[in-house]
Amino acid sequence: MEVIYQIYPLSFLDTNGDGIGDINGVIKKLPYLKELGVSYIWLTPIFKSPMKDNGYDISDYYQINEMFGSKDDLINLINKAKKHNINIMLDLVLNHTSNKHVWFKEAIKNKNSKYHDYYVWSNKLPKIQSFFGGSAWEYVESLDKYYLHLFAKEQPDLNWHNSNVRQELYKMINYYINLGIKGFRLDVLDLVGKVVTDKGIDFHKHLDEYLLELYEECFKDKGILTVGEMNLPLEKAHQLSSDKILSMVFQFDHVALDEVKGKGKWELKELDLNDLTDTFEKVQLKYEDSGIPALFWSNHDQPRALGRYLNLEYRYYAQTMLQTLLYLQKGNVFIYQGEEFGMSGLGKVEIDKYKDIEAINYYNEAILTKDKDTVLRSLEVKARDHSRTPMQWDNSINAGFTKGKPWLMTNPNYTYVNASTDIKSENSIYMYLKKLLQIKKNNQTLIKGKYKRIELGPNIYSYERILDDKYLIICNFTDANININLPKGKIIISNYQHKTNKLRPYEALLMKRDD
Ligand code: NOJ
Repeated sequence: MEVIYQIYPLSFLDTNGDGIGDINGVIKKLPYLKELGVSYIWLTPIFKSPMKDNGYDISDYYQINEMFGSKDDLINLINKAKKHNINIMLDLVLNHTSNKHVWFKEAIKNKNSKYHDYYVWSNKLPKIQSFFGGSAWEYVESLDKYYLHLFAKEQPDLNWHNSNVRQELYKMINYYINLGIKGFRLDVLDLVGKVVTDKGIDFHKHLDEYLLELYEECFKDKGILTVGEMNLPLEKAHQLSSDKILSMVFQFDHVALDEVKGKGKWELKELDLNDLTDTFEKVQLKYEDSGIPALFWSNHDQPRALGRYLNLEYRYYAQTMLQTLLYLQKGNVFIYQGEEFGMSGLGKVEIDKYKDIEAINYYNEAILTKDKDTVLRSLEVKARDHSRTPMQWDNSINAGFTKGKPWLMTNPNYTYVNASTDIKSENSIYMYLKKLLQIKKNNQTLIKGKYKRIELGPNIYSYERILDDKYLIICNFTDANININLPKGKIIISNYQHKTNKLRPYEALLMKRDD
């Protein structure tokens, strides 16, 4: 069982006072991460980039973005992390580059350049929408042609059907493996097999073929942990993990349950616990005998679960309940920076506080047809900046993140929600999570056991894990008391001190059953 801690370097820890986190900041916090029980650090992209999409627009895969440090800093991080038994996982964007990448610069300069075919061109313009809003085609006057960008226009899509493109990418991945990198998170990997036709786009046409090649050329027999960020049906995602083409595949169904189906990410609805239970159950049953799920609540794209679904007045109980509910399922644990002490989103803020290209694009488009309050509410729940605010280390100015001016506003709650307060207290989210991870790591039933849904009543999420022993997990998903007759058994961990005949707000328990 791996514990993968996701670091958003921009917001983790700034050691040179420029208001932006850096690799040295990660090095400084290695003991903190070791103490929590982390086995991998996933760094979101740290490569050279104009930062139009915060690093997911890479202009040179071989250079480290100066704002984060240097290649030497990365090597230093790999070596120091190793001493703490922590591996480094890089985040690679293989579907597109920045428009400032030399390949793209050459591609638009000269139709006859070998790099021209590294990208996807058309004059027929089948209707394709960019995930960041608007058309996915951008005109290049000098060529009288359009290129495809499924994200921002500064992120042209690579043409994976050109084998030179694939070989260049494999060479680069192997370069990092030789440097000592032990894992990769592969950005929108489901998109690399797409074929653009006159009618539109066939997203997965060559996916299997390219994934197999990627695996064989880069990962096979090298002990590399991979996770594909992929919007795939469960069946397909499971098959990739089960066949070990990828170690894991991120599934996003559970974080889309507060969206009106088919209406995109900004049309909101209340999360229904039954939907959540069904969604997790499907995953757990699918992965029962093979493959391994990736367990996560939030990331740099997914605002923090706490304030999004639950009552912030019960921060400690709500956050520890969420961790118990998810992390005791079968799967590798993903912790997004700050979740270990209960960071939450900014709440409702004015549009000028947002920095993210996606949020700004959405606002500009939506404000033409919707009232401002509704638009700001969608942003409050779904905009990515809410999970990207600076890490709250302590209650000093800027939450101890920087001595300069933070690149994105700090959540004002840092005075009481911060790492330093949590590690000093016995009854904190950090301490609870640390204990929970230790319990899981040392327990084969919780690692491998079968998952069985148990019905204990409305608003309760509950399941068993069964191997040689039988464990029962019970979570109150509400901020109200629920009467219950607890089954007999020994409590292994709980976020409340004493057992009673009711479940208190967000109470969570792990019990070893006697029967
Ligand atoms: C998914 C990444 O997580 C997100 O942050 C990025 O904007 C898109 N892929 C495009 O690379």
